[in-house]
Amino acid sequence: MRQLVRHSARLAITVTGLIFMMGATMSIEAGPSIDSAPYGKLPDGTPIDLFTLKNAQGMEAQITNYGGIVVSLKVPDKDGKLGDVVLGRPSLDDYVKSSPYFGALIGRYGNRIAKGRFTLDGVEYKLPISNPPNSLHGGNKGFDKRVWTAKPHMTDDGPALDLSYTSADGEEGYPGKLDVKVTYTLTNDDGLRIDYTATTDKATPVNLTNHSYFNLDGDGSPTILDEKLMIKASHITPVDATLIPTGKLMPVAGTPFDFTKPRLIGEDINSDNEQIRFGGGYDHNFVLDGESGKLRLVAKLYSKKTGRLMEVLTTEPGVQFYSGNFLDGTLTGKTGTPYPKRSGLCLETQHFPDSPNHPNFPSTILKPGETYRSTTEYRFKVAPSINE
Ligand code: GLA
Repeated sequence: MRQLVRHSARLAITVTGLIFMMGATMSIEAGPSIDSAPYGKLPDGTPIDLFTLKNAQGMEAQITNYGGIVVSLKVPDKDGKLGDVVLGRPSLDDYVKSSPYFGALIGRYGNRIAKGRFTLDGVEYKLPISNPPNSLHGGNKGFDKRVWTAKPHMTDDGPALDLSYTSADGEEGYPGKLDVKVTYTLTNDDGLRIDYTATTDKATPVNLTNHSYFNLDGDGSPTILDEKLMIKASHITPVDATLIPTGKLMPVAGTPFDFTKPRLIGEDINSDNEQIRFGGGYDHNFVLDGESGKLRLVAKLYSKKTGRLMEVLTTEPGVQFYSGNFLDGTLTGKTGTPYPKRSGLCLETQHFPDSPNHPNFPSTILKPGETYRSTTEYRFKVAPSINE
């Protein structure tokens, strides 16, 4: 098999008949590979690694075991030129200091839980109010700020990185010891697939996602407003002014939320609409059509400028389309340029926000003996239009 697996920056093994070990790495990299290198240290001295996954076509993902963050994702444009399509910070220190969840794994509960409270089996649980007046993305120190145990390996589908984390009983207010495993695979068909599993020893809410901010024009491009989006969703879960679902479903037909046919993100983003006002743009859960539990195509994003097309496939019932409304130019990215408002967008596949307080929403409660499973894939192509 023509593949390269490296777990040290100093050692390269190619199965192309040549082995070079000359101090500095020299290698003929023809096939898929995984590389690891030190990324830095946390303030408490914990060493953190950065893994570089490459597939057979040369697409590349860099992922760190701090927060399971996708630091960069390089995909070809219409001229075959690789470009980074995700936002991120210049260094590990910057991620630790300040990051609005750029590229990170989110848990135990992606999105908001109203006033940080829910009742399960007659017991009321209180979570940190990380986004007043609600709890957002797992509390003050969610999975995005945890150190994961990493295991790189090669699969028939492409290079993969297993990340494991055990969340102690009571961590951030949640019941039960939760064992989580997330596998990132850079697939042979240019997808970044994310497989999540979790088990618990007490009933607990679980809603895992990845918080990558995409810009198909390339990291550092000013906005995503000229990119086209399609979401297979005929409803959203409308929210109140604190972005908590009202519990109703709102049809998208005739509203700025109708992405059932592809259209420019910028078209209605500033329209005079109560939901748009509450979100400061798009920051809503779209109720995906089709059967959840099955991996299906749910969204497409397209940049005419670069010809990059991203398809989103998921087993989840919802996706949070967040148009980067809180970015305000104060954070700089990997290339040193500031990230202004709406310079990236998230498509966070998920169960609906605040589900533990909405019995009519699909349940997010994981019980002992069950296994939580969720899969999402972001797949990349070059195409003349979004309809390809
Ligand atoms: C999620 C939320 C947004 C915002 C971002 C992080 O997408 O829905 O409101 O908090 O995370 O800035």
